[in-house]
Amino acid sequence: MKYEFAARMGKVPRSFIREILKVTEDPEIISFAGGLPNPESFPYHDIKEVAVQVLEESGAQALQYSTTEGYYPLREWVSNRYQSKGVKVDPEEVLVTNGSQQGLDLVGKIFLNQEDPVLVERPTYLAALQSFGLYEPVFYSVPLEEDGVDVNRLEEALHEFDPKLFYAVPNFQNPTGISYSLKRRKEVARVLTGSNTVFVEDNPYGEIRFMGEDYPPVKAFLEESVLLGSFSKIVSPGIRLGWITAPAEVMDKLVTAKQASDLHSSLLSQMIVHRYLSEYPVEAHLEKIRSMYKSQRDLMVSLIQEEFPDDVQCTEPEGGMFLWVTLPEGMSSLELFEMALKEQVAFVPGQAFYAEEPQYNTLRMNFSNSSAEKIETGIKRLARSIRELEK
Ligand SMILES: Cc1ncc(COP(=O)(O)O)c(C=O)c1O
Repeated sequence: MKYEFAARMGKVPRSFIREILKVTEDPEIISFAGGLPNPESFPYHDIKEVAVQVLEESGAQALQYSTTEGYYPLREWVSNRYQSKGVKVDPEEVLVTNGSQQGLDLVGKIFLNQEDPVLVERPTYLAALQSFGLYEPVFYSVPLEEDGVDVNRLEEALHEFDPKLFYAVPNFQNPTGISYSLKRRKEVARVLTGSNTVFVEDNPYGEIRFMGEDYPPVKAFLEESVLLGSFSKIVSPGIRLGWITAPAEVMDKLVTAKQASDLHSSLLSQMIVHRYLSEYPVEAHLEKIRSMYKSQRDLMVSLIQEEFPDDVQCTEPEGGMFLWVTLPEGMSSLELFEMALKEQVAFVPGQAFYAEEPQYNTLRMNFSNSSAEKIETGIKRLARSIRELEK
């Protein structure tokens, strides 16, 4: 039989990262390519205890169908967490999703028509391009600078393209690790205020700040925006829970879209996560993750500075799981990838993260999922490959 797929399927490339991860599945390869949290941070023991308690005490409820909006006490937990950071979000404005990735899909579903303009950062999160891409928009991008998006260019792009959405990751961005300063956050809010462009703020890494000053999300200065969060980096990605917060009018549409998609997220998982977050020492757990990632990040940054040629630059993230390397002009990270694989080390060539006109001399490195030993060996091998390529 000849399957006749919808035209939109032809427009979304299979994830380049997934293709690369296939190559790097070989356990002999030191991979900085994936985007995985460190499994040593997973609270196995506590989750096991909580799961038993939930099933013993509320098994019939936990295994039943439930509401689309999500488990109310978990929505309250999210709301309280925001209040503690100075952001007013009512529990009713929180929709629990299957990871923030589903939140992105729902945003695309309720806002985007074919050919609608969508603005993203340059570079941006690849899976957001995929998620929105299924709704066939036209992407435009605004450059990222050291302390956030270039606000002048953002303002120009808003006038020129009148985008439906502006999607950004202001905390420890995937792929660059860049974070917006407080000034940038306020400026972004200022230029978007009064426009018809919906700001979609994706914040899965906000709790993983291991140095520098913590700032509120842009939503603190721009109430009408949509803000996504995730339990993946603070509890576990396999549990597949996240959330999306939005004003009532938007929430209504999101709930309809989620209902059509999967009725609701797993109530059992929501009850487990809620009980874990409310009854266990979560602050200590978060501190453990932060200090683990900080030492991994410190080691990778210092080795890059020591081992890589001087004309190679890297970001120095204050949180999250990634850093971004820029090779000298004219060098190709795809060629470097081929050479590095021979040395049994992998990363993600940066070209995948651009909505338009990719920059070929960039690469993404993940530091959260490699031991100190692997970081040390891997960076030394990569340095050898870069010098080889420079010859
Ligand atoms: C920027 C960004 N957004 C969203 C996600 C999706 O996270 P999840 O669906 O696990 O919450 C990720 C995961 O890596 C990410 O980096």
